Amino acid sequence: MVSNNLAKLVENKQIIAIVCNQFGDTGKGKFSDYFASHWADVIARGTGGNNAGHTIVVNGKQKIFHLLPSGITEDSKGKINILGNGMVIDIKALCEELEELEKEDISYNNLMISKDAHVIMPWHVSQDRAKNMSQKSGGIGSTGRGIGPCYADKTARRGIKIADLFDKEVLEYKINKIKQFYPEQNIDFKKVLKESSPYIKKIKPFVKNTIQEIHKFKDQGKKICIEGAQGLFLSIEHGTYPYVTSSDPSINGTASGVGLNAQDVDLTLGIIKFPFMTRVGAGPFPSELGGQKSEDYCAEGLEHDINYELKTHLGGGDNKKEKITELMNSQDEFLQGVGIRLAAGEYGATTKRPRRTGWTDAVLAKYARKINGPHFIFTKVDSLAGAKKFGICYGHKLNGSTITDYDPNGKFLKQIKPEIKFYEGYSDISKIRDFKDLPEGLKQAIQDFEQFTGGKVKIISVGPDRDETIVR
Ligand code: IMP
Repeated sequence: MVSNNLAKLVENKQIIAIVCNQFGDTGKGKFSDYFASHWADVIARGTGGNNAGHTIVVNGKQKIFHLLPSGITEDSKGKINILGNGMVIDIKALCEELEELEKEDISYNNLMISKDAHVIMPWHVSQDRAKNMSQKSGGIGSTGRGIGPCYADKTARRGIKIADLFDKEVLEYKINKIKQFYPEQNIDFKKVLKESSPYIKKIKPFVKNTIQEIHKFKDQGKKICIEGAQGLFLSIEHGTYPYVTSSDPSINGTASGVGLNAQDVDLTLGIIKFPFMTRVGAGPFPSELGGQKSEDYCAEGLEHDINYELKTHLGGGDNKKEKITELMNSQDEFLQGVGIRLAAGEYGATTKRPRRTGWTDAVLAKYARKINGPHFIFTKVDSLAGAKKFGICYGHKLNGSTITDYDPNGKFLKQIKPEIKFYEGYSDISKIRDFKDLPEGLKQAIQDFEQFTGGKVKIISVGPDRDETIVR
């Protein structure tokens, strides 16, 4: 029934995109998996690299992939998976993911890797770890995967493309030229070549001019699902700069990163976690519960991982669920945030760091509607079951005035106070399949949110399973 409604939503569409309208980690996986396995012929990723992470169930086992798109396990059914030109690819990390597939006897003959994607080299990873990873020493809290330095080399016009790996002369020339920018790293061409040659050999059969390929697929009428990464407010163009990633995960950057025009996309679905949202890493988060205290606490990263939180805030023992609900209903906003993190399992798929939690910010969503279009998917709505009340942020207050339009100015975003409207909480909603059956407080919040943002909530996810979905 739900699948029928989802199918109806994409009826007569040839290209759909799934992007995140917040700070990433909004649960795109559930829907990109659905569209990849039940709808698309081609699945393509256009931005970022192994800073992303999603869990895929392969032969009943949960595996976390960082680079491969959701459709990869469908290879046997002839689906084409593309790693697009806008991505940055760590070839060792990619080969490790391919090995995971081999272990499960899953073939990946239809994988295509863009010859124009940039390569994350070992010096990018070392530099990222030294300079950007640690929030405690003032870094932006990057994932430490070399994303920023690789995109920096791309923009400075000295990057190494996948195609360069197959031309020894070009590679040697480029590596020797790049050395001066990493004086502390003793880059040696021969050593680099030796270490990377098994990976270069392994990926060779899959390297293609994916831009030409995707144009061909489009002309052939194949159904294409574009899978976004990260989120709009981590975008180098639209995000809370400099606390952003180094690509543009909006629909524009994502389409461009697979070689398409954003106008080619028939339906863009923008994912929003509701009624709470999260952020990992440093940077402004106006509606964060517990404010600076929460940001500082989460900056400790793995020191405050899930095991620490279970021990410290729940005190071990039984009645875990009741204790988490108690935390969510605490009078202390910081503890409320901890409760939401535990209730919704908000710990990084890539880094395991605790995610900062706060109420969903409609001011940001209104901006997202203007960039990524009016169609929203709400995810993780069920996670807040048991909270007596929940809030939605409808304004950014400063010096007595309320601003209802997003301004990416970091200093401003740090100073403002969120204007929160509270609604009555709800209990278990995971069995509900029709919007009209949702609890009144939640329905009211969704209606207010639509009116404020001008968007339309097409899908509401009420649980991790595919069927736990309301389609409107
Ligand atoms: P980078 O992309 O590793 O350079 O990290 C830059 C910022 O983006 C950091 O705050 C990261 O935590 C954040 N970030 C990068 N990828 C993701 C993601 O997939 N989900 C959430 N945050 C991310």
